[in-house]
Amino acid sequence: MSSPDPTEQTEDPAPGTGATAVIILAAGGGTRMKSRIPKVLHRMAGRTLLDHVLTAAEQAQPRHLVVVIGHQRELLAEHLAESAPHVHPVVQEEQLGTAHAVQVALAALRDVDGEVSGEIVVTTADTPMLTGETLQQLVRFHRRSENAVTLLSATVPDPTGYGRVVRGEDDRITGIVEHKDADEQTRAIDEINSAIYVFDADVLTEALGRIGNDNAQGEYYLTDVVGIAIGDGRRAGAWRIDDLWQTEGVNDRVQLARMAAEMNRRICERWMRAGVTIIDPATTWITDDVTLAPDVTLLPGTSLEGATSVAEGATIGPYTTLIDSEVGPDATIVRAHAQLAVIGPRASVGPFAYLRPGTSLADDVRLGTFVEAKNAQLGARSKMQHLAYAGDATIGEDVNIGAGVIFANYDGVDKHHSDVGDASFVGSDSTLVAPIKIGAGVYVAAGSTITEDVAPGELGIARGRQRNVDGWVQRRRSGTKTAQAAQQASSTHTDDARAEEP
Ligand code: UD1
Ligand code: CA
Repeated sequence: MSSPDPTEQTEDPAPGTGATAVIILAAGGGTRMKSRIPKVLHRMAGRTLLDHVLTAAEQAQPRHLVVVIGHQRELLAEHLAESAPHVHPVVQEEQLGTAHAVQVALAALRDVDGEVSGEIVVTTADTPMLTGETLQQLVRFHRRSENAVTLLSATVPDPTGYGRVVRGEDDRITGIVEHKDADEQTRAIDEINSAIYVFDADVLTEALGRIGNDNAQGEYYLTDVVGIAIGDGRRAGAWRIDDLWQTEGVNDRVQLARMAAEMNRRICERWMRAGVTIIDPATTWITDDVTLAPDVTLLPGTSLEGATSVAEGATIGPYTTLIDSEVGPDATIVRAHAQLAVIGPRASVGPFAYLRPGTSLADDVRLGTFVEAKNAQLGARSKMQHLAYAGDATIGEDVNIGAGVIFANYDGVDKHHSDVGDASFVGSDSTLVAPIKIGAGVYVAAGSTITEDVAPGELGIARGRQRNVDGWVQRRRSGTKTAQAAQQASSTHTDDARAEEP
């Protein structure tokens, strides 16, 4: 059977499917991950596997969304309560098989909704590439075909391990046989069951009651519903999907990495088609919720995560990570790490800068090399270019913060705030001990440790006065190279002085 006619899809403007429920199976152990967290809480493109499937399920707009949990149920329930509170988590105490899992979910639905009717979509939680569009198409195909059971199938190069879709002479499905129960001839079938289905609720309920566990794994197989429904004279069908990635489950970390790379490749491709230049998509990682404007350029080794947004014309990278950060138009960020930071229009950051939460740079700010900022706001055109730390600081416009300046914001117990007014100049290697107020139009002399406020127009200077001790090197370091150089310099100095005589 081929994909649905695309014209058919445009005829159906109604969003969602009107399905009664989507049931997501997530009670299994996922032991091959060798992890202390549940398999489906591992992430790709910034979100858990479960969240990817939940998004697809939500796009199908069912009346109920049920997740069956078992192994490590506390962690899963906690995650769902936080990130998807509208989902019903249902506990399957013992994992007796996929049919049993669905039975437990239906029992829970009946508790909420009375009798369950209509269409029930079932999928697993470990197929993160499955899209909402595919679920919607599957439901539409199910309806159009007037099936009692419809499954999503795929023809794969290596069907080992999967349930095989068995078809009769007329090409109609006769049932599904699990790999472990299949004979040689059945194992030769390369059309597999993806474990994504649409069921008529009544047919499903009825069939579940009749499923046994007399098979190679001693489990109650959901796949047996297909054969039972057909035996009862119901229609079953399969919609074969071409995009095999959508049916692939994650079982170990090798698959996780492979699939994450494919998901990332698709995300990068989408942005390139939207006008973003990505020099090396293989080393550029963009999570799902990031937004990019046209004419953004991403250089190799760039990772954009969370709610990050980058405006037109900005150039990011190489080797830059931005998490939940906002970048203004035409800004440049080189080899930097930023989290919860705002980088203004035409601002320039790096190489080697660290922007921590609460940092915001206004238009044309320059933040240079080995500079760290935390909860620091820099006004337009201000500069902090070399080896500096600004923590808990409000810095005005046109300010110059010299090399090696430290805003000493922490007294060992509390954090304190510093202010630097417009167009002030803080000389190199100064320490501003917070709380402190440096007014507008101030100079702070290089090497000062400033502990008292400096008013507008003043010079703040706080350092030991310099004393030069004449002849010290000859007296205390005689015979050294330094003394020789001093000797030579003083005779040249005398010669020069003589040459200048009229
Ligand atoms: C299942 C299908 C197989 C299909 C394959 C696709 C059955 C009997 N077989 O096999 O036809 O080709 O998926 O990947 O359904 N689960 C529970 N409770 C249980 C058992 C499983 O929630 O009691 C969940 C698991 O967490 C998992 C999913 O159901 O997410 C699939 O279970 P699994 O045992 O891995 O089935 P497969 O052997 O992969
Ligand atoms: Ca599986």
